[in-house]
Amino acid sequence: MTADDIILELDQLSVGYTDEPVVVDFAAAIPVGSITTVIGPNGAGKSTLLRAVYGLNRHFGGSVRFFGRSIERLAPRERLKLGIGFVPQGRCNFPLMTVRENLELGTYTLRGSAVADSIERVLVQFPLLKAKLSVLAGNLSGGEQQILEIAMVLEARPKLLLLDEPSLGLSPANQDQIFETIAELPGRGLTVMVVEQNAHGALQISDIGIVMELGRIFMAGPAAEVIADPRIKVAYLGGEAT
Ligand SMILES: Nc1ncnc2c1ncn2[C@@H]1O[C@H](COP(=O)(O)OP(=O)(O)OP(=O)(O)O)[C@@H](O)[C@H]1O
Ligand SMILES: [Mg+2]
Repeated sequence: MTADDIILELDQLSVGYTDEPVVVDFAAAIPVGSITTVIGPNGAGKSTLLRAVYGLNRHFGGSVRFFGRSIERLAPRERLKLGIGFVPQGRCNFPLMTVRENLELGTYTLRGSAVADSIERVLVQFPLLKAKLSVLAGNLSGGEQQILEIAMVLEARPKLLLLDEPSLGLSPANQDQIFETIAELPGRGLTVMVVEQNAHGALQISDIGIVMELGRIFMAGPAAEVIADPRIKVAYLGGEAT
């Protein structure tokens, strides 16, 4: 595997908010075109980790490399320009604006014909949004709202998509719809890093699984191995100790 095959490399990364780092000595090498799921208990530092890849936290040490380039000092806007897209925890569409208006807002980094082109592109990718262009975003189902949120970030054509709890609060059917949507992204040239409470749903569509506890990596490896690990089964997948 060459440097071109690794889209994101984290090394001894420590990040946080105030005096003490919340995520400590984090390391990962994410291959192009893969899906990585990060699981862990509440407060483990999963959101902090994703936010750090996008440049929203205080940097304490270590490196964040995007296609080999150190980006830990870059602002989020510059990271977006390089090709990192971030969908934060909690849906934040503009509920009193239509789907079309939300999609127009998602093109704020684009100019000229790229605006209409990118809206057209995501409507081809997500036909359900095309059927609801004049519906208020707040009147979409939870799953549809999450897909709109993903579509708004995809309009900027990121190479790496960071998703924080995309299935949170959704019905089982809507969760399935979100995981199916995510599973299709590598076929469109994207690499995905997703934080999820639904550990089973997310690990099933993933190549890599990372388990975080108290700001550190508890376990990392092929998603199939993480699913099969007895400790993970008991703690996260509702299984019985064997
Ligand atoms: N803006 C902030 N300022 C200070 N501390 C914060 C801030 N956001 C989170 N923290 C702290 O960082 C730690 C990790 O929080 P984080 O949100 O990353 O956890 P998480 O794994 O995403 O949890 P959850 O599953 O509940 O979303 C927690 O102790 C939290 O209190
Ligand atoms: Mg979180």
